[in-house]
Amino acid sequence: MHLPSLSLSLTALAIASPSAAYPHFGSSQPVLHSNSDTTQSRADAIKAAFSHAWDGYLQYAFPHDELHPVSNGYGDSRNGWGASAVDALSTAVIMRNATIVNQILDHVAKIDYSKTNTTVSLFETTIRYLGGMLSGYDLLKGPVSDLVQDSSKIDVLLTQSKNLADVLKFAFDTPSGVPYNNLNITSGGNDGAKTNGLAVTGTLALEWTRLSDLTGDTTYADLSQKAESYLLNPQPKSAEPFPGLVGSNINISNGQFTDAQVSWNGGDDSYYEYLIKMYVYDPKRFGLYKDRWVAAAQSTMQHLASHPSSRPDLTFLASYNNGTLGLSSQHLTCFDGGSFLLGGTVLNRTDFINFGLDLVSGCHDTYNSTLTGIGPESFSWDTSDIPSSQQSLYEKAGFYITSGAYILRPEVIESFYYAWRVTGQETVSLSPHSIRSIVTNNILVPGLDLERIQRRQRLLPHQLRIFRSDRRERGQRRQSIR
Ligand SMILES: *[C@@H]1O[C@H](CO)[C@@H](O)[C@H](O)[C@H]1NC(C)=O
Ligand SMILES: *[C@@H]1O[C@H](CO)[C@@H](O)[C@H](O)[C@H]1NC(C)=O
Ligand SMILES: *[C@@H]1O[C@H](CO)[C@@H](O)[C@H](O)[C@H]1NC(C)=O
Ligand SMILES: *[C@@H]1O[C@H](CO)[C@@H](O)[C@H](O)[C@H]1NC(C)=O
Ligand SMILES: *[C@@H]1O[C@H](CO)[C@@H](O)[C@H](O)[C@H]1NC(C)=O
Ligand SMILES: *[C@@H]1O[C@H](CO)[C@@H](O)[C@H](O)[C@H]1NC(C)=O
Ligand SMILES: *[C@@H]1O[C@H](CO)[C@@H](O)[C@H](O)[C@H]1NC(C)=O
Repeated sequence: MHLPSLSLSLTALAIASPSAAYPHFGSSQPVLHSNSDTTQSRADAIKAAFSHAWDGYLQYAFPHDELHPVSNGYGDSRNGWGASAVDALSTAVIMRNATIVNQILDHVAKIDYSKTNTTVSLFETTIRYLGGMLSGYDLLKGPVSDLVQDSSKIDVLLTQSKNLADVLKFAFDTPSGVPYNNLNITSGGNDGAKTNGLAVTGTLALEWTRLSDLTGDTTYADLSQKAESYLLNPQPKSAEPFPGLVGSNINISNGQFTDAQVSWNGGDDSYYEYLIKMYVYDPKRFGLYKDRWVAAAQSTMQHLASHPSSRPDLTFLASYNNGTLGLSSQHLTCFDGGSFLLGGTVLNRTDFINFGLDLVSGCHDTYNSTLTGIGPESFSWDTSDIPSSQQSLYEKAGFYITSGAYILRPEVIESFYYAWRVTGQETVSLSPHSIRSIVTNNILVPGLDLERIQRRQRLLPHQLRIFRSDRRERGQRRQSIR
């Protein structure tokens, strides 16, 4: 495929008018099945972009973890088991591309999850491999069951999920049941850490519980929920400075928190995300998770909502530690609006929905205030520390950039999507300018504009990464993000 048509269709994607329907959560009408021409052309553009990325990955990197798009090389940053393929399975299923789905299923059948040359992250391996296989399995056994004829190929997803979890489960074999995150699966060893992070501990229960529910073997649910139990009932009490908002690190030997640093940023983020998603998964069993999310959400509105002095109309989330607010945030944190919108919708709480929309708008402003139209990796509104070169940006935009990197963060897109599902409005969406910047930046050649790229077709086959495959660092330890 050639870039001109891709860029045109992506532009159409961003500027076309909203579909007539006002979709809401729980609506029985799947959005992408709308008859509207616009909706169809957007879906086609996204499918074409996905195919384009898949073809580049297949040609240059498969079955390694990821494509290095400038060199046509590859990397194995996620255990060398073909992370991009496994992680992309559910996307390929939703797009109904049987060719790609079958390629991925054939690959999954061949993975030996007991062998790797690298340290294995329990968290990353859970969200990408286990999550990829289980969501693919659920879709192919459920709403998309007509896509793959040979049901034994689908069953392999569950067998391999169990194989993988059986390799990983020794991680939980600690005095408290709080797992080690960094594992040597060859030796059954770990990195000797004394603590584990809030997000990496609290972003396991959905996948591990689903595996138990599908296999009937409660081991996996029990292990992940035992670890989570220390987060739901934090000790000591001082680790919960506001109801529901908890510290950042947990002692592996006794399950006690070792600090009371509160945030929704990387390192903490998906603990809060999974609380409400567990409730959505099964309201009967996970009412406590919902109660903890509600407490955290209310405390967040009360104590962490923050408005830049130069732009009091914007809402960002501050962090909190021992009486002090930290006035900075991250691209990763932009899942927060979506989390409030999801919780507000399923719990019928207008206050959460309105606050969620404020957070989504704040993140949208970090996009539409920059030259590229892309939001920064991290930003601040702490007036005691503004670099003089960014004083005017702060006055105008309400934030200044503390890291200008862009590494394909999907969090903000999930939040934009939820905002659209809830309101039916496209007030927040990626502008054509943002999309052009993303496509341009993604081939990592600074200073090239789109027209120049179009003349350099040889760069094209591998410029786009596969959606979701770069969700790296989500939940990574706070220290390594700073
Ligand atoms: C599926 O993906 C392949 C590989 O990118 C592409 O050639 C094909 O056109 C796609 N099929 C459909 C039905 O979209
Ligand atoms: C481990 O490294 C060896 C030697 O480089 C390679 O042949 C093998 O495929 C690697 N295994 C995995 C699972 O990456
Ligand atoms: C894991 O342990 C084995 C056996 O002790 C060792 O050979 C290997 O180098 C270790 N792997 C990593 C990634 O540290
Ligand atoms: C973890 O708890 C143990 C007591 O079970 C204690 O000896 C150790 O110092 C604690 N470690 C940290 C990092 O707080
Ligand atoms: C919290 O701050 C107070 C001073 O305001 C200090 O005395 C105390 O040691 C701090 N506590 C922690 C856990 O850092
Ligand atoms: C949602 O809450 C509003 C008032 O807060 C109430 O009028 C409405 O009936 C509720 N809807 C549901 C489905 O519970
Ligand atoms: C950015 O988007 C917001 C809506 O989220 C809009 O109100 C604002 O005017 C836009 N700002 C710019 C500079 O385009």
